[in-house]
Amino acid sequence: MPAPARSLRDAALLLAVQNRAASLALAWSDGATAELPAIWLRDNSPAPGARHANGQKLFDITDIDPTIHIVAAAAQGGRVAMTFSDGHEVEFEGAWLHRHALPRRVPPRRLWGADLGRNLPAHEHVAVVSDAAARRAWLADIAELGFALLRGVPVESGALLGVAELFGHVRETNYGRFFEVRSEPDPINLAYTPMGLSVHTDNPYRDPVPGLQLLHCLVAESDGGESVVVDGFRAAQMLAAESGSDFDLLTRHAVPFRFASADAVLEARARLITLDDRGEVAEIRFNNRSIAAFDLDVAVMGAFYAAYRRFAEILRRPALEVAFRLAPGELFIVDNRRVLHGRRAIAASGWRHLQGCYADMDGLRSTLSLLERDA
Ligand code: FE2
Repeated sequence: MPAPARSLRDAALLLAVQNRAASLALAWSDGATAELPAIWLRDNSPAPGARHANGQKLFDITDIDPTIHIVAAAAQGGRVAMTFSDGHEVEFEGAWLHRHALPRRVPPRRLWGADLGRNLPAHEHVAVVSDAAARRAWLADIAELGFALLRGVPVESGALLGVAELFGHVRETNYGRFFEVRSEPDPINLAYTPMGLSVHTDNPYRDPVPGLQLLHCLVAESDGGESVVVDGFRAAQMLAAESGSDFDLLTRHAVPFRFASADAVLEARARLITLDDRGEVAEIRFNNRSIAAFDLDVAVMGAFYAAYRRFAEILRRPALEVAFRLAPGELFIVDNRRVLHGRRAIAASGWRHLQGCYADMDGLRSTLSLLERDA
């Protein structure tokens, strides 16, 4: 999330605390208030002895008295000095308590549709390589939107690996460290044909699925083959709004995905839409080519198919599609658990050659956090 908001939160001054024994009530200068339980405070003590110098916790939950309560608490100079009933003494930073105040504040998501096509999140390779601010802006777009374009990548085989290494590690699979996306005479995957590909997430048959996909264009001499991306979270939101029962079916029932070739058999069961602990959409898996025979209860099958069809129809709506034509040296990255990608059919004549690879979101988020910390 953008650094300024965090800085503003950190700037809020701790004004008052009140010891309620089982909890601590707090008030800050920005109007925020919180009531934090004694056991939560004791468990999160940053005191020497409770934490190693590296920040890792030195005790277990079973070491804390279950009847723990606060004996004394006082605010001074933006900090809170506390004594607990087990004799533990600690000072908390008011800014840390403000950042972690309960209930948890979750920033709103930025969902998008075809409108994003009028102002593509595009960045320059030369800038993201040499300039930390440009690299931060690029990675922030991928983290926030689940999609960004990069222009000016060297038109060289394997150059996409260097792009992945700007923020993380390449995820090697049975397709190799990277793979060729071009028409082949006897393709193991329909991606290696001139056929159009409806929007999908990649490799839903893996556990876990790759978090990020990179696709780098080396040759684009054919007609057709435009790339299409769709915000799966936006599509899921529309499904929920248009049919709550269909949304429930896709979030409740898992289905199998499968890929088999001469040297790999990959299978995984997953929901098409996975929710997180707050009921928010956390992951989309959708791939018409590798979805396998449903193993649902027969009583559910008809309703599930109707929900599956409705979701597929939403994903094809032009209002959700961002389409663009990749030129040689252009590369795009998608959050493979959120943004679906596809391509229009490629003309039989003319040559089109892309290279793809996978990476993971935790590496990207780590690099982004380090860049924000140092900004
Ligand atoms: Fe794909």
